[in-house]
Amino acid sequence: MEKKREKFSSRLGFILISAGCAIGLGNVWRFPYITGKYGGAAFVLIYLLFLVIMGIPIMVAEFSVGRASQCSAVRSYHVLEPKGTKWHWHGYVCVAGNYLLMMFYTTVAGWMLSYMVKMAKGDFVGLNPTEVGAVFNDMLAKPLPMIFWMALTTVVCFLVCSMGLQKGVERITKWMMSCLFIILIILCIRSVTLPGAVEGLKFYLTPDFGKMAENGLGEAIFAAMGQAFFTLSIGIGAMSIFGSYIDKNRSLTGETVSICALDTTVALLSGLVIFPACFAFQIDPGEGPGLVFVTLPNVFNQMPGGRIFGTLFFVFMFFAAASTIIAVFENLINFSIDLSDMSRKKAVILNLVLVLVLSIPCVLGFNVLSGFQPLGEGTTIQDLEDFIVSNNLLPLGSLVFLLFCTTKKGWGWKNFITEADSGKGLKFPKWSRVYVTYILPFIVLFIFVMGYYQKFFAK
Ligand code: PHE
Repeated sequence: MEKKREKFSSRLGFILISAGCAIGLGNVWRFPYITGKYGGAAFVLIYLLFLVIMGIPIMVAEFSVGRASQCSAVRSYHVLEPKGTKWHWHGYVCVAGNYLLMMFYTTVAGWMLSYMVKMAKGDFVGLNPTEVGAVFNDMLAKPLPMIFWMALTTVVCFLVCSMGLQKGVERITKWMMSCLFIILIILCIRSVTLPGAVEGLKFYLTPDFGKMAENGLGEAIFAAMGQAFFTLSIGIGAMSIFGSYIDKNRSLTGETVSICALDTTVALLSGLVIFPACFAFQIDPGEGPGLVFVTLPNVFNQMPGGRIFGTLFFVFMFFAAASTIIAVFENLINFSIDLSDMSRKKAVILNLVLVLVLSIPCVLGFNVLSGFQPLGEGTTIQDLEDFIVSNNLLPLGSLVFLLFCTTKKGWGWKNFITEADSGKGLKFPKWSRVYVTYILPFIVLFIFVMGYYQKFFAK
């Protein structure tokens, strides 16, 4: 007899876990620094547009595939594809994508944990900006402590998964997401009430397209598109599995809109924390990836109560990252179960060991293996892994999901729309069929090609 699939205990559970998967380093680490780099509000507007015209339809496609097939991305295609077709090859690419993402994500989450402890201990108190910067470089230079924080993060998140879908993943993620929202609101209030915060608000909220064009309009547009894929977790089937844990009471478009709204709210509010604070203390928000680790500790150093707010900030960052890791681990565990029918416990142990080992190259890329600069001078193994996932697997995978759901050679529009529209709530707009079938795939392909062009030829 076929085993009955475990389900989420509530609709809220489904929405918060999917939002937890989406809300992560993309929102709180990547979004603010990219926005800073491309000039603030004008960039944010373009990004919001892409979320709506690309993000939502692709996420609905992923959830539909998951709910209709009732399994993880590695098996979904087998269940739904017409006989004799090869769509299921993409299932294996999804597996690779989820592992690759974790290979660098666990390391950055480990940094968050380590900074949380440093902040709480008061390690930054009294340091000048150069010394604060040195703390970050010092962390990168030492592989052993970095492996420790990465491993701690990995073990904790697998522990949560080992407790099961409802008792572990759902219960803990719900709790973490609730704390995350509360902390975020506290930090926002602190930041926007700082003297001098207004300048930051202006930078963040008043669009200045002229300024954005100075840095290259094309580049900003492609960065906005890439960010939309990354932040919504679409393209490697990470989301589709959560579709397999729900019943058909609710339409998938309605649920997707709620999840995207939560994700976007967290990204926008993270900006409200970071920009006013940077401007209040005259610190440049266009710093790049070091924004969170170098710029912000300086901001907290100058702020009354900075140690407490700084610690809270890194707790918030860690929760965001951990909720994504738990969601992706849930995928990894299910890939193993779907592929070889092992028990959940065995799958947890196998994947714990795998992720620990696979995460090591990223850590070593900053020190022992720093001579290996795969994408040009100064780049690291982490950049390579990020590039493979963000610039390749996410856009191409989204393209496959789209084609699978819209073409006759795949699962087909009719099956897709029936699944997406089952249940109460917002329906997938019928008029959008031409757009989703013929226009959107070209936009996605275009981003993909432009991503390469930007990376290798535009410099
Ligand atoms: N959306 C996650 C974040 O914002 C990253 C992610 C991408 C997760 C792709 C799963 C799949 O951090």
